[in-house]
Amino acid sequence: MNISGKRVVLTGAAGGMGRILTTELAKRGAKLALIDANGEALEAIANRIEGAHAVTGDLASVQGCKKAADQCSELLGGIDLLINLAGLNSFAAFEDERAEKIELMMHVNLLAPMWLTRAFLPAMLDQGSGRIVNVGSIFGSIGFAYFSTYSASKFGLRGFSEALRRELADSGVGVTYIAPRAVKTPMNSDAVMRMGEATGMNMDEPVEVVEKIIAAIENDRKDVYLGFPESLFVRINGLLPRIVDGSLAAKDRIARKFAKGEK
Ligand SMILES: NC(=O)c1ccc[n+]([C@@H]2O[C@H](COP(=O)([O-])OP(=O)(O)OC[C@H]3O[C@@H](n4cnc5c(N)ncnc54)[C@H](OP(=O)(O)O)[C@@H]3O)[C@@H](O)[C@H]2O)c1
Repeated sequence: MNISGKRVVLTGAAGGMGRILTTELAKRGAKLALIDANGEALEAIANRIEGAHAVTGDLASVQGCKKAADQCSELLGGIDLLINLAGLNSFAAFEDERAEKIELMMHVNLLAPMWLTRAFLPAMLDQGSGRIVNVGSIFGSIGFAYFSTYSASKFGLRGFSEALRRELADSGVGVTYIAPRAVKTPMNSDAVMRMGEATGMNMDEPVEVVEKIIAAIENDRKDVYLGFPESLFVRINGLLPRIVDGSLAAKDRIARKFAKGEK
């Protein structure tokens, strides 16, 4: 897709990757409607870009998604590209995970992309063109210890993306699923950062990941898994998960201490 002149809805626009992606989309001439829960940060970002619209909204409910989608459609007069980037994670032993946090993560990471897609898809189908980009995670293919809820939400997002892509074949509407490995953004708490250091977890700069997201959109990619060896592990995990169990076991024991808040 050539981004120039396209009407783009981006969620999570005030986040670590979102603010960089906003700038890159604007540089390429996109017409932007930006959604985020953090209204103050979102306004500041939108104000720097001529013609960008800030839509402050909470994507944790069907009503919130519907309201934000209606506002975006009205402001842009239609849509060509939906980028589902908003998300949140939780690093915890599952026995300590709160029910409310499980529900919230499933809403924001999985149901909101589905609800927004449902809201915008009819217009894309009517015009016979469009693209839906779902930002998942390597943890959406390799279930990661102490990220059980996050992994479940991203596995769901990957499954949704694959099924919808097949369903929309020949419709003119494409679906891209892009799965970064860990990225240095505010999403990762101090405990995650310390665990990452202790276990030798690879972490990318957000600007590098944004470049890959843009390239995936411009090249109409279907699935993109970022980073080596993580992208190889995704394939091995699909075929021979016991090998991945073995290679992660020692790291999982270290991660437990950080997930349980031990120093
Ligand atoms: N960072 C990583 O290590 C990593 C790795 C792989 C994949 N990803 C994925 O990349 C995407 C972007 O992550 P990021 O690292 O840029 O995270 P981030 O810096 O935390 O940004 C996420 C943004 O989403 C917003 N958001 C959260 N809940 C929302 C809600 N209910 N309604 C509306 N907006 C909401 C946040 O607003 P508030 O700040 O107000 O909560 C924040 O601005 C996520 O889908 C994430 O799962 C991240």
